Amino acid sequence: MAESLFEAQNRIIVGLDVGTTKVCALVARKGPGQPPEIIGVGQSPSRGLRKGVVVDIAKTVASIRGALEEAAQSAGLVPEHAVVGIAGDHVMSTNSSAGLTVRKSGRVIDPNLRDRVIHKSLNAQVPRGYRVIHAIPREFILDGVDGVLEPLGMSAKLIEVKTHIVLGAIPSIANLVKCVQLAGIGVSDIVLEPIASAEAVLTPDERELGTALIDIGGGTTDLAVFNEGNICHTKVLPFGGNHVTRDVAVGLRVSLEEAEAIKLKNGLASRRLADPTAVIKVKDIYSHRARSVLTANLADIIGARMEEMFAMVKRELDAAGMTKLLAGGIVLTGGASQLKGIEKLAHESLGVPARVGRPTNIVGPAAIVKNGVYATGVGLLLYSAAHTDDEKHDVAGDGGLADITARIKNWFTQDISFTLLSGKNTKP
Ligand SMILES: Nc1ncnc2c1ncn2[C@@H]1O[C@H](COP(=O)(O)OP(=O)(O)OP(=O)(O)O)[C@@H](O)[C@H]1O
Ligand SMILES: [Mg+2]
Repeated sequence: MAESLFEAQNRIIVGLDVGTTKVCALVARKGPGQPPEIIGVGQSPSRGLRKGVVVDIAKTVASIRGALEEAAQSAGLVPEHAVVGIAGDHVMSTNSSAGLTVRKSGRVIDPNLRDRVIHKSLNAQVPRGYRVIHAIPREFILDGVDGVLEPLGMSAKLIEVKTHIVLGAIPSIANLVKCVQLAGIGVSDIVLEPIASAEAVLTPDERELGTALIDIGGGTTDLAVFNEGNICHTKVLPFGGNHVTRDVAVGLRVSLEEAEAIKLKNGLASRRLADPTAVIKVKDIYSHRARSVLTANLADIIGARMEEMFAMVKRELDAAGMTKLLAGGIVLTGGASQLKGIEKLAHESLGVPARVGRPTNIVGPAAIVKNGVYATGVGLLLYSAAHTDDEKHDVAGDGGLADITARIKNWFTQDISFTLLSGKNTKP
């Protein structure tokens, strides 16, 4: 049957966030020049991951399948490919640089030359057992003139590039891809989760001024730091809201299930926010009897762990030399950023103003687009939308960025059975 004009102009994209606590599949329709519109949502509890990494294939496949089937049903279509988020503390990132001297004078920089210099910046940066997830050009320097974001069509004798490189351990990447494929959908791209979340919640001004995105999930806390419009640091730390729940369970002697429910309903980031006389009833895990607990004591337990987590984030930002670059502040997202009073605690712990970020530039159900829990899923859609616009650009015949991206991918995928994503500068 002939493709209608509507079908030809609208494409379907799927963002698959395989988190430690939930798997979320979002199906969106993207028309030319339009923001993606979410038309299908599926979610299921995540059973087979620890700290962002697959530890049980069968359980992970079942969770992904559950989310995908629900999303497909609500969208009324069966998608073929998904953009998948990746995290876990196997992920490493580093900044690199390289230069190339052009022999033929007056040669215009074409995609091939641009690729070669980016590729050169990866030399010696990929340890055995690792693969490149992103190789993002931060800036090009042409004959000593810096700040060039796109060198295509320009001429120079010396082309230099500064790149941000994200690497992942091959077994961890392969296990995730295998689970997604076994759940019945192909993997079109892999995107580092904090890069996706940043796509959803950071404003262009924040990226320009210098901002750290902190996505606090269940098992991981993901960082992405932007400055002068470009990404300069990424890190996945192995702790999150599930650690807070465990502390509440131990501290109040209740089951994990009850601890989670209490945290969501009555949790506060600091004792100072609590009514000093307010109490809640909890059921003792040993005696099964009801007990009264001051909400201020609950806030103490939660606040202590959150402070410790922010202290680790600060150590990471300090060690990477990022703290001085944060004129735009901190943006918090992820499920655990929903905790009441978290902005103040983050500000005090990190020494920089913080806000809670919610997805923007997307059309869809308010419960999804206004909730930081879905920042990664929405970010995957936005990342994919930006990426494929470039492909359209390329189809138009003027040698766009997607062509380069595809070729860089191939350099690193020869002995791996799926397509790995190489990064690109997705700054608007
Ligand atoms: N209102 C709330 N207050 C406090 N914590 C919350 C709230 N809502 C959700 N959380 C916590 O957020 C965490 C889950 O966040 P999220 O859905 O972003 O995780 P995930 O993406 O599955 O995990 P990860 O990114 O670590 O792999 C859980 O620990 C949950 O308790
Ligand atoms: Mg997450």
